Amino acid sequence: MKNAVIPVAGLGTRLLPATKSQPKEMLPVGRKPIVQYIVEELIRGGINEILFITGPDKASLENHFDTNHELVQTLREKGKEDLLAELDFDRLHAQYYYTRQRETLGLGHAVMCARSFVGKEPFIVALGDSIIGLNATSNIVQRMEHCFDENDCAAVIAFEEVPDHEVSQYGIAKPKTDGDVFELLDIIEKPEQAESPSNLAVAARYIFTPTIFDALNRTTPGKGGEIQLTDAIKIMIEDGAKVCGVRLNRDERRYDIGNFESYFRAFIEFALADEKFGDSLREYIATLSGN
Ligand code: UTP
Repeated sequence: MKNAVIPVAGLGTRLLPATKSQPKEMLPVGRKPIVQYIVEELIRGGINEILFITGPDKASLENHFDTNHELVQTLREKGKEDLLAELDFDRLHAQYYYTRQRETLGLGHAVMCARSFVGKEPFIVALGDSIIGLNATSNIVQRMEHCFDENDCAAVIAFEEVPDHEVSQYGIAKPKTDGDVFELLDIIEKPEQAESPSNLAVAARYIFTPTIFDALNRTTPGKGGEIQLTDAIKIMIEDGAKVCGVRLNRDERRYDIGNFESYFRAFIEFALADEKFGDSLREYIATLSGN
């Protein structure tokens, strides 16, 4: 698989005012903006064509993946080799594309904007606000590709086990079997805890064949007038398509940056893992919690 789509057009209202004029996907977690972790994860998995679905006020994201020749020249003249190395990610062997979602009509609508980019090929969707694994060291996308190739699926979705009281915040799987790889009998958007078929929550990574676009075309707007990706996946399953799930491992947490509580936690965890500053930060936090 060579194509991936990263939707980054959301308004990020839960992170206001931080996101008033900058994309939430560009907020730093530790040393890097969130979306850089996602791009690095995809490129490590062999992806070399990446389409961002963007919206207004997302220019900083385009600039981030472009080479800033003036900055490179200045750092070179000053002999700042370490900082130059930090900017190497923009020379990774990937091609970046951008298209606009003209109205923020939901994640499903954002994915629809990728239709002509992907053509007849299967493709990955990686949400721009979720990092998988500390420092994005996960190989979940490769495991999903393996499942896709082995099982002749129309879609493969990553799932994370969440506590029972959190199921009402996510799309939840009704799996056919136990195990790390399973077929889906159904998917339910934000079920009540008592009615939830499992505690396996959709975890920000998907592989789709282009059949998803037909399903999206038949998806009626749900909550808030948005076209939900989960509803389209449900339609695919109802149509008889084979949709599989792959579980994240226990050490592969999904860091969802969509709200301040999980953003703060992710930042602290990544900062504590920082080679240079992690230990002193840990000592500093201990002094605070000692009060
Ligand atoms: P969210 O569901 O977290 O929505 O998006 P949001 O609009 O960004 O955030 P809130 O709810 O207002 O705080 C999940 C991912 O899908 C993208 C977002 O950019 C994010 O990476 N998205 C969402 C789109 O690209 N377009 C949309 O219409 C909605």
